[in-house]
Amino acid sequence: MNRMEAAQQEAAQLPRMPQRKLDNIPGDYGWPLLGATVPFLKDYHKLVTERAEKYGLVSKGSVLFQRGVTLLGPDANEFVLKDPEHAFSSRAAWNPILEKLFTDGLMLRDFADHKFHRRIMQQAFKKPALASYLDRMNQHIGTEIQDWPVGTELKFLEHIKTLLLDVGAQIFFGLEMGPESDKVNQSFIDTTEASLAVVRLKIPGLLWHRGMKGRRYLEDFVTGLIPQKRNSDTPDFFSELCKAADEEGGLTDRDVMNHMIFLLFAAHDTTTSTLCSIIYMLAKHPEWQEILVEEMKGLGKTALDYDDLGKLEKTGWVFRETLRMRPPLTTFPRRTVKEVEHQGYVLPKNTLVNISTLYTHYMEEYWSQPLRFDPERFSDDRAEHKKHFYQWVPFGGGHHKCLGLNFAELQTKTFLFHFLQRYRVSVKEGYELPTQQVPLIMPKDGLPVTIEKR
Ligand code: HEM
Repeated sequence: MNRMEAAQQEAAQLPRMPQRKLDNIPGDYGWPLLGATVPFLKDYHKLVTERAEKYGLVSKGSVLFQRGVTLLGPDANEFVLKDPEHAFSSRAAWNPILEKLFTDGLMLRDFADHKFHRRIMQQAFKKPALASYLDRMNQHIGTEIQDWPVGTELKFLEHIKTLLLDVGAQIFFGLEMGPESDKVNQSFIDTTEASLAVVRLKIPGLLWHRGMKGRRYLEDFVTGLIPQKRNSDTPDFFSELCKAADEEGGLTDRDVMNHMIFLLFAAHDTTTSTLCSIIYMLAKHPEWQEILVEEMKGLGKTALDYDDLGKLEKTGWVFRETLRMRPPLTTFPRRTVKEVEHQGYVLPKNTLVNISTLYTHYMEEYWSQPLRFDPERFSDDRAEHKKHFYQWVPFGGGHHKCLGLNFAELQTKTFLFHFLQRYRVSVKEGYELPTQQVPLIMPKDGLPVTIEKR
């Protein structure tokens, strides 16, 4: 075993090792065993705000049967995510949840090994690659939304999920729609849903069993396609990744397969969540629908080119403001691999550490009237987001900063470009979206909306 593998193995074992006491840290562990799991699942924002008021920006607690420390605010985000001393393992924090289903994905790697894989994967996210995905996306989105039911209530979540899965099958694998892409999509859904399974036993009928079956199907499907993708130059992530792996060397077919499956996972629910949130915000603030349509019409085009994306400035503000108010990942974890000190508190090795995008995005020290939907706060004139580099962190930051952030913006703008110029969207008078906040922000009721043709 080389040093890199030994470090990976050590990080993977950390969660199973006894955790040292956190006596010096303020906070409480709540109910025996359960801790604060119930309020965490019910209203994470309320819980984290109340705890900050009671204990400050550093506190210990217990949720989902795990004890840990929550570090709040931009300085804490910087400390954990920039991590100059390589003290925070992403692998050891994420592996207990994702290891079996999304084995060795980029977020489940650490330090030098992570850096090596990330550099290769970055090739699939460079401008020429993104521009070629955009061509396909324009055609597909433009056509599919034409059939959405007008004048009657529809569940936006279902519609956007299906659309993004179909676009994903094309952009990630180069698949045309049909039985094969349906099977891939279903296996992917089963695999993702299993990540939430509490009972992890391979008993037929259980979520976990379906998920592992889905994973095996995806493994076979992706591995079988590698020789073909190696020799083709199609505009999709898979082909780009094979190309980059060949050029750089050092990635096995198994690595490529694992990365592809993880990419699907990292991309899908996050962009679904984002588009639901944006449509909700736009339905509640219809004046912004008109502002965006005017901006889009100003381009005088029927499809977006890559260079148009930067011109959709106000659409960009709406994207950023929605991600501020409703970041898909409201909180995420790390585990210390050595003792560290933050704000005078010592965190021993093997401490679970959580940071909070949601809390940071509502701090009055950084955002004026944080409860208000105010996209212009991101304009050059106001630039509220520039007080601290780590105050707006929907995509994380530092070593593991989301690789797909430009892709997510491109996909969001492309969808809005086609959707808003075709439809007006509304919600019922007085409607407030019931929202699941963990593990990801999602509508609990499917987000019922009505669309009317312009
Ligand atoms: C608005 C949509 C998205 C949001 C809010 C989002 C958010 C995040 C966050 C917070 C992380 C860091 C997690 C951590 O540090 O533990 C992350 C990592 C990642 N995301 Fe995204 N993501 C989005 C879309 C995408 C898309 C579309 C892709 C791929 C096409 C993608 C690929 C990845 C990858 C590969 C990583 C791991 C990076 C690494 O570990 O080096 N994401 N994302």
